[in-house]
Amino acid sequence: MPGIFRDGLYAGRHVFLTGGSSGITLRLAEAFGKAGAKISILARKQEKIDAALTLLRGQGTTAEGYSADVRDYAAIDGAMTKAVTAFGPLDVLICGAAGNFPAPAMAMSSNGFKAVLDIDVLGTFNCCRAAFEKFRTPGACVINISAPQASVPYPMQSHVCAAKAGVDMLTRTLAMEWGGAGVRVNSISPGPIDETEGMSRLAGDPESRKKVETSIPMQRLGTKDDIANVALFLASEAASYITGSIYACDGGMQLMGGAFMTM
Ligand code: COA
Repeated sequence: MPGIFRDGLYAGRHVFLTGGSSGITLRLAEAFGKAGAKISILARKQEKIDAALTLLRGQGTTAEGYSADVRDYAAIDGAMTKAVTAFGPLDVLICGAAGNFPAPAMAMSSNGFKAVLDIDVLGTFNCCRAAFEKFRTPGACVINISAPQASVPYPMQSHVCAAKAGVDMLTRTLAMEWGGAGVRVNSISPGPIDETEGMSRLAGDPESRKKVETSIPMQRLGTKDDIANVALFLASEAASYITGSIYACDGGMQLMGGAFMTM
């Protein structure tokens, strides 16, 4: 388990992650699993789910996987119902499923824009909506994975900027509506994270990587464990009065605003 968190912190808890078969969200699944949680992962491709389950179970984690598209409410509700039957009520929902491709608006079809909005905004709503009645309350929480594009405009990312801004507003409104039920809702906004598909696309060669590193105030890329540490904190009792917040974990990158992209 990364960082400062003690073994068994999440023993007996059930953590459900969408997009949990790869990338940052898979590392979150590993971190919560090592902290004792039972892990349910949901993703589209069965072969990626199988590989993730092999990894998690190899680490001694109790884990199950479900194949569904976050755009399909009935499929999400069905998968969560099965997960609750297997592992009990949900303690933590992590919405990590997201869509992205770099394209200027004029090279993007209406359907391309819609695909990302549907995966990110509708998908996050669907998962939160389906999870609400399956939470163990009070004390459950949602963590939505956002991005700097929610508040910083980026060329070639009109769809992602619109979608992630929508995700953050869902975080804030659901936090208001669900606080009384004892359900906290927060976002984490990761900056450029090493060893991810996004980073290999953005800066796959050493020269581009150096440029990215030197344009971040902390002068390094983030790690998946940096994000896992924020998630372990946000889902813990130490964060019991935190809701509706957007946690940037980006080495200060958002302080650069749009300048980051022009560097
Ligand atoms: N440039 C322009 N348009 C693109 C595109 C690209 N690189 N990739 C996909 N699209 C368009 C498609 O052309 C299609 O529009 P059309 O019907 O008008 O042709 C639309 O997006 C939907 O594509 P489809 O193939 O039906 O896939 P989908 O709805 O299942 O989702 C993605 C498409 C690209 C959003 C999704 O597969 C994805 O996000 N993949 C990458 C995952 C990833 O990187 N995750 C990390 C997120 S940070």
